[in-house]
Amino acid sequence: MEKFVIKGGRCLNGEVVISGAKNAAVGIIPAVILSDEPCILENVPDISDVSISLRILHEMGAKVQTLSRDTFRIDASGINNYCVPYESARQMRASYYFLGALLGKFNKARVSMPGGCPLGDRPIDQHLKAFSALGARCNLDHGMIDVSADNLKGSQIYLDVVSVGATMNAMLAAVKAKGLSVIENAAKEPHIVDLANFLNSMGADIMGAGTDVIKIRGVGYLRGTTYSVIPDQIEAGTFMVAAAATGGDVLIKNVIPKHLESISNKLEKIGVNVEEFDDSVRVWVDGPLVKTNIKTMPHPGFPTDMQPQMATLLTLAEGTSIITEGVWEQRFRYVDELRRMGADISVDGKVAVVEGTGCLQGAPVKACDLRAGAALIIAGLAASGVTEVEDIHHIERGYDNLDKKLQALGGDIIKKHFPGSSVRKAI
Ligand code: UD1
Repeated sequence: MEKFVIKGGRCLNGEVVISGAKNAAVGIIPAVILSDEPCILENVPDISDVSISLRILHEMGAKVQTLSRDTFRIDASGINNYCVPYESARQMRASYYFLGALLGKFNKARVSMPGGCPLGDRPIDQHLKAFSALGARCNLDHGMIDVSADNLKGSQIYLDVVSVGATMNAMLAAVKAKGLSVIENAAKEPHIVDLANFLNSMGADIMGAGTDVIKIRGVGYLRGTTYSVIPDQIEAGTFMVAAAATGGDVLIKNVIPKHLESISNKLEKIGVNVEEFDDSVRVWVDGPLVKTNIKTMPHPGFPTDMQPQMATLLTLAEGTSIITEGVWEQRFRYVDELRRMGADISVDGKVAVVEGTGCLQGAPVKACDLRAGAALIIAGLAASGVTEVEDIHHIERGYDNLDKKLQALGGDIIKKHFPGSSVRKAI
């Protein structure tokens, strides 16, 4: 078993380069299936969700060539089946994007029900609603999702809830459907715009991505392209919070500051300094941190994927902060772990009340999901003493070399292999 072992109490200082966005990459990689020519993807993050996506393509018959650490050439023209291997697909929630991409290409797809972070009920009814609107039949059968159509036809797709996954899947399925599709109540996250830009660079006709109405006119052929994935908004936000929590001074490079606005605004309210440049932000602390209230919402609201990291920072601030989770049913499972480190947080349903205690103590803790894991690492960096974070596979799903990037900023964090079980040591 591997753990991150963190000796807390060191300020983070220096520069860090942000990798490509996980949530864009896991949509763009399956989207390559829609092209009949090779594509080159640049700025692809080195994370396990990407490795699994590339492995699925390879297992299905695509040629995947590594050109450099973050650049891949993918030729999906050899794919001639529409069934995603069960073992790979169930390891990753975003494997559902293969449904939309395969349906768009072959009018058929079969993928296992997705895995991923346990954040409460994670239905895919809106994905299936979008496929049905385009003329597909959808069946759930022994843990597999089957979708098929004689012909996909452009149509109006109204999403009952704002869903990132359903919006991206609807785009993937509609891009080659005959006629005009209109996605209403679409999600507006930066990765939705990135997927649209990628598809348009292959010759698709998608307008309105980034607003709540996306119009897609189906095209018959998608050519090859070279495309660079956008920087990861949540990785950048995580480093911003880590810099603040350790009282550090960090220049975070390769970011789109506009994507970070909701995070920067909250940090400034807490008393953190944020200076924006063209493609970087500097974050530093020179005074006390103070309470604030946060409600997570779909973009451009405060991102739910930054909620655990921000809660950790607020335990270090003066006063009582209230956090309301507006996207997921169960996104406070990490609170029990933070409490082991001395945090004073009470949770009632979707609301957490954080009493700032000003300090945390190192403890053995477990990452229960990806962003919870990031929050515990931030807590460990800010705490006195040693923190051991278990179940780090969750963290490695979505952070590219987090330990090495933190080390370069002066953080005392190492990945250690421990033989044997995951029984907690007494403190
Ligand atoms: C994506 C992100 C995830 C982020 C989330 C919200 C990826 C790979 N993951 O997840 O990190 O936390 O957006 O920003 O991009 N819902 C339904 N029916 C559906 C689909 C969703 O009711 O068919 C509900 C969900 O239960 C949830 C809300 O809609 O309450 C938002 O979910 P959604 O935006 O779909 O999240 P994901 O795309 O799974």
